[in-house]
Amino acid sequence: MNRRNIALIGFMGTGKSTVGAALAGKLGLRHIDTDHAVQERAGLSIPQIFETRGERHFRELEKQIIRELLAQDGLVISTGGGSVLDRDNCALMKENAFVVRLAASKETIVRRISRDNGRPLVAGQAEQRVAELLEQRKHAYDFADFTVHTDGGMLEHTVRAILAALPWQPQAERNN
Ligand code: S3P
Repeated sequence: MNRRNIALIGFMGTGKSTVGAALAGKLGLRHIDTDHAVQERAGLSIPQIFETRGERHFRELEKQIIRELLAQDGLVISTGGGSVLDRDNCALMKENAFVVRLAASKETIVRRISRDNGRPLVAGQAEQRVAELLEQRKHAYDFADFTVHTDGGMLEHTVRAILAALPWQPQAERNN
C-alpha cells in the first residue's frame, strides 16, 4: 500500500457515507464521497445522470474521480456500491488505500434504501433488484483488506473496529 487512504466499499445501503464521515472526523482526515463528487462534477443528481447520459457516463465520471482521489494521501473515501465492478478501480484502491468493506444483510439493505429515491438501479422494486444485484456482485467486494458488518447500526462500534484494524498508527484520534 503506497498511501494512507481509507477506501470504504460495499453494497448500497451498507453505511459507507455515514461511516466515512464519522471515521474521517475521528481521524482528523478529509472525507470524500464519490457519489457527491460525481454529482458536483456533472452538475446533475445521480438519477438525472443515469437518465440523461446513461450509466456508462456515470461510471466514467466515477472512475475519473476515484483515480484523482487515490493520487492523494490522507483521505477517507466512500465509494459508490458499483465502483468495484471496474477492475482498474479495485487495483487502484488496493494499491493506494486500506480497503474496508461494509456489509449488511439483504433485509437491512432493503430497509435502508427504501427510504430514498436517489438510487436508479433499484428504483421502484427495491427488494427484487437488491436480491438480483447482491447475487451478481456476491464476490465483487472480496478484495477488501477488512470487513465490518453494519446490521447492528452501531456507528461508534463500526468506527472503532476500523480504527483497530488500520495497518498504520493514526496521527490524530479525536474524542468527538
Ligand atoms: C450504485 C450505488 C450508488 C450510486 C449509484 C450506483 C451501484 O452508491 O453510486 O446509484 O451500482 O451500486 P451507494 O452505494 O452510495 O448507494
